[in-house]
Amino acid sequence: MSPIGMPKKIRIAPSLLSADFTRLKDEIAMIEAGGADWLHVDVMDGVFVPNLTFGAKMIESCRKLTALPLDVHLMVVEPEKYFDSFAKAGATGLTIHVEAAPHLQRQIARIRELGCAAGVAMNPGTPVDCVAEVISDLDLLLVMTVNPGFGGQKFIGSSIDKIQRARAMLAAARSDALLQVDGGIARDTIAACSRAGADTFVAGNAVFTASDPAAEIRTLRSLCAEPR
Ligand code: DX5
Ligand code: ZN
Repeated sequence: MSPIGMPKKIRIAPSLLSADFTRLKDEIAMIEAGGADWLHVDVMDGVFVPNLTFGAKMIESCRKLTALPLDVHLMVVEPEKYFDSFAKAGATGLTIHVEAAPHLQRQIARIRELGCAAGVAMNPGTPVDCVAEVISDLDLLLVMTVNPGFGGQKFIGSSIDKIQRARAMLAAARSDALLQVDGGIARDTIAACSRAGADTFVAGNAVFTASDPAAEIRTLRSLCAEPR
């Protein structure tokens, strides 16, 4: 457990959702060579969110294409149905939504049992307090800064205050869980998120639509506050 005030590493996690799938191998190689820390993989089931994306096969393919940690964001109902196959496919971390996880403590324990880092995400309308009882079991807390479902949405400004409250809650619990933000993270929003206490930044459109994605990753990183 790191004492409050110790330096925190900044992590940039490009989201595969915005990649060009006809060039998947090149896109992943490009962000890896460009200094990405993680690859963020958005799994959507068309029920929890109004969009459909990938399953275990895609995670398995990504695992073969990169050495980067695979940060798998499960935007699905009954996420526990997928834990075993996704862990086997090579996921490094599995993040589930508190809104879809009535047995949160048990689900987190199962993710860890499978050897993955356990993350919990919350939608913009969900209060920070909803994870209070499991805070010491978390490896990562994800504050969604858009309503999940699609890349390229506008950052919700009120998220900054929420990130601050999430950081305060982690500090009060003396948790060293990472504090991740996801949705609309770009040059104009990342600094405020960083100052508010986020340390792990998902960026889809900002990275993959940039003319030079590697430079964009560097720019995003440089806009983050000095490590605390
Ligand atoms: C949103 C996903 C995000 C998305 C982010 O539902 O969870 O990871 O890909 O994309 P941008 O950075 O374009 O908002
Ligand atoms: Zn995501």
